[in-house]
Amino acid sequence: MRQVRDVAEYRPDIYARSAILDPYPHYRRLREMGPVVWLPRQRVYALSRYVECKAVLRDDAAFISGNGVALNRISNRLSRGTTLNSDGAEHERRRKLVAHRLLPRALQSIAETVDRLAAEVVDAAMARGEIDGVEMASALPLAVVPDLVGWPHDRRRHLIDWAGATFDALGPLNGQAITSVAGTVQMLRFARSVVRRRTVLDGSMAHELLIAADEGKLAHKECPPLLVDYIAPSLDTTISAISNALHLFAAHHDQWQLLRAEPHRIPNAVNEVIRYESPLRAFSRQARADTDVAGVVVPAGARVLVLYASANRDEREWNQPEVFDITRDAGRQIGFGQGAHACAGQGLARLEAAALLRALVARVSRIDQLGPPVWAMNNIIRRHKRLPLKLVAA
Ligand code: HEM
Repeated sequence: MRQVRDVAEYRPDIYARSAILDPYPHYRRLREMGPVVWLPRQRVYALSRYVECKAVLRDDAAFISGNGVALNRISNRLSRGTTLNSDGAEHERRRKLVAHRLLPRALQSIAETVDRLAAEVVDAAMARGEIDGVEMASALPLAVVPDLVGWPHDRRRHLIDWAGATFDALGPLNGQAITSVAGTVQMLRFARSVVRRRTVLDGSMAHELLIAADEGKLAHKECPPLLVDYIAPSLDTTISAISNALHLFAAHHDQWQLLRAEPHRIPNAVNEVIRYESPLRAFSRQARADTDVAGVVVPAGARVLVLYASANRDEREWNQPEVFDITRDAGRQIGFGQGAHACAGQGLARLEAAALLRALVARVSRIDQLGPPVWAMNNIIRRHKRLPLKLVAA
């Protein structure tokens, strides 16, 4: 990939261990340096400011996903056949197949079940007193998503590891990503065997997909990557959002009291959590032709790195972005992406996160931290590995 002359260059590795654990100083530095900054290690143009990130995501004709959104060729090859990794009419076709059960109207039918499960998760955590917030954050997505998708009951215990690995492998080819490729391959292999043996749950999203294939609407061999499309992005991301919410409300008791007093703020609080600690840090796009971004011509074939997590902290867009404030208008955060590839499952993620916050608000007067959180190492997902907490009953 060719570097354009006169574009600022940032040498520190934003995928180094220390930068994964504490990325925000790097993002701030990148934003200060300019709208487009060359990262020599990854050989990509980093976009760290809100306006350019949003514009590039919306211009899916000029900045394509069809050759992958990862920073390495292996993962870009392994993600072939997914919605994420496609453009134009092909993308629209796949997205329709995947997304219709995730639209708000379709989700209404499971809203009550999600509320009940959320209440059960919170009751169980309260009975224990001291908890690991990550375990609690995992419980609801694990209770909801695999059944909805129709993933067979065997091998479910691998799902979180496989899903985390699938994201990790989308980073640059560092030690993290290399170790994780095996998990991606295992998940894809299992999805293939699920389709071959037709072991999906009756009436599930995956079942519908197989019926559509039987009716000739898609080829059977297209089903495994679409199954991965459902399951891989639906666990770690939501677990991240929920554990980040628990952590942020434990660190900001005033915001928790405000949410308890004014629970109508829950949907916006979900947006603010996603803005403040974006679960997905960045994906890339490839420039189809030489394309101007804020005065820099990105050459055809080059990759730009869209840093959602940095855009959501851009001081040009947000007043005091380092402050966690559930009263700010956080609806325009781009943690769920933007444009044609905006998250197909955000309705479900919002439903789960809001249900859990509602169950907590009704039962918990304070969330206390029992020690510092431990962050997980992952190239793409920002989430905790351990989060010791105590829920104080209302
Ligand atoms: C808090 C939770 C979540 C976050 C932060 C999140 C974030 C994102 C982002 C940033 C993208 C855009 C990718 C791009 O720009 O290339 C995306 C796409 C996608 N997400 Fe999510 N996601 C979440 C939950 C989910 C869930 C629960 C599902 C499925 C049930 C899901 C399924 C998808 C799919 C299928 C795409 C690809 C859409 C396309 O390419 O058209 N996500 N997500």
